[in-house]
Amino acid sequence: MKISKTLGLIGVGNMGAAILEGLFAKQLIKHGQVWVYDKFTEKAREFSQFEKVRLAASNRELVQKSRVVLLAIKPQDLVQTAQEFKSVLTKEHTVISILAGTPVGKIKSILGPKPHVIRAMPNLGAKAGASMTVLSGKDPEGLKTAEQIFSGCGAVMHLDEKHFDLVTAISGSGPAYFFLLMELLVEAGIKNGIPREKAKLLAVQTALGAGLLAKASADAPDELRRKVTSKGGTTEAAFKVFESKQLAKIIHQGIEAAFQRGKELASF
Ligand SMILES: NC(=O)c1ccc[n+]([C@@H]2O[C@H](COP(=O)([O-])OP(=O)(O)OC[C@H]3O[C@@H](n4cnc5c(N)ncnc54)[C@H](OP(=O)(O)O)[C@@H]3O)[C@@H](O)[C@H]2O)c1
Repeated sequence: MKISKTLGLIGVGNMGAAILEGLFAKQLIKHGQVWVYDKFTEKAREFSQFEKVRLAASNRELVQKSRVVLLAIKPQDLVQTAQEFKSVLTKEHTVISILAGTPVGKIKSILGPKPHVIRAMPNLGAKAGASMTVLSGKDPEGLKTAEQIFSGCGAVMHLDEKHFDLVTAISGSGPAYFFLLMELLVEAGIKNGIPREKAKLLAVQTALGAGLLAKASADAPDELRRKVTSKGGTTEAAFKVFESKQLAKIIHQGIEAAFQRGKELASF
């Protein structure tokens, strides 16, 4: 379903741009319906010229021109940024925040009682229309709008807000974990004489196939893995090393560190 409300993006960074690019790719919103503003004005100007969206002169103007405000700045910048526009927020506004570690309650206490506030945790997959976005919030109208936006750039799931820091550590940061695995596969190819571009295709197409298969299959990932790991084969040889070096423990520790960092961000 097409998005009918005007949308303002505060923070034209990696995620904000990815979400808009996902929506434009699926033609879910008209370019002229979108306003953008970034503290780094050159970046916002370039984006607005390239994507043919409207460039606001300030966050204040952006909020005045938009009904839905997508907050895509760093959590540390929220308090200061809010001062630039909170006085022009109305009951008609829905603010959708993708900030890690920043609960709805905290956002409301900073922005005041007027706007509807929805929390979303998307990921970089949005750029390719394949984000995993988790939504939380109490306002049905706001949730409907957020669902419209994020279902335009991938899959959407509703979860209680108490899970958000964990979701951030799993699916929010998740694309980068898979990028690392691809990076290592590329390196292995190059190290052993395969040209970089071909090594990249080997790694990326393999990741894509594994993702599509895991999504389509009724089997859990561990079952899929076991099915392709034949006794005495090459995959088993790799897993013997992974297990002896406790790769699973390392990954769990990394995810736990991301989880804790999400909790720390709540204190900004
Ligand atoms: N990256 C991810 O994979 C991911 C996934 C899920 C959620 N998130 C969340 O998404 C948010 C954005 O992350 P990101 O990776 O996109 O960060 P980013 O690339 O640094 O983008 C944030 C942008 O906001 C700008 N900004 C800062 N203060 C501003 C202000 N007062 N007004 C307007 N723009 C302002 C920044 O400009 P300057 O660079 O000049 O400061 C920057 O361009 C974060 O809160 C993060 O927790 C990120």
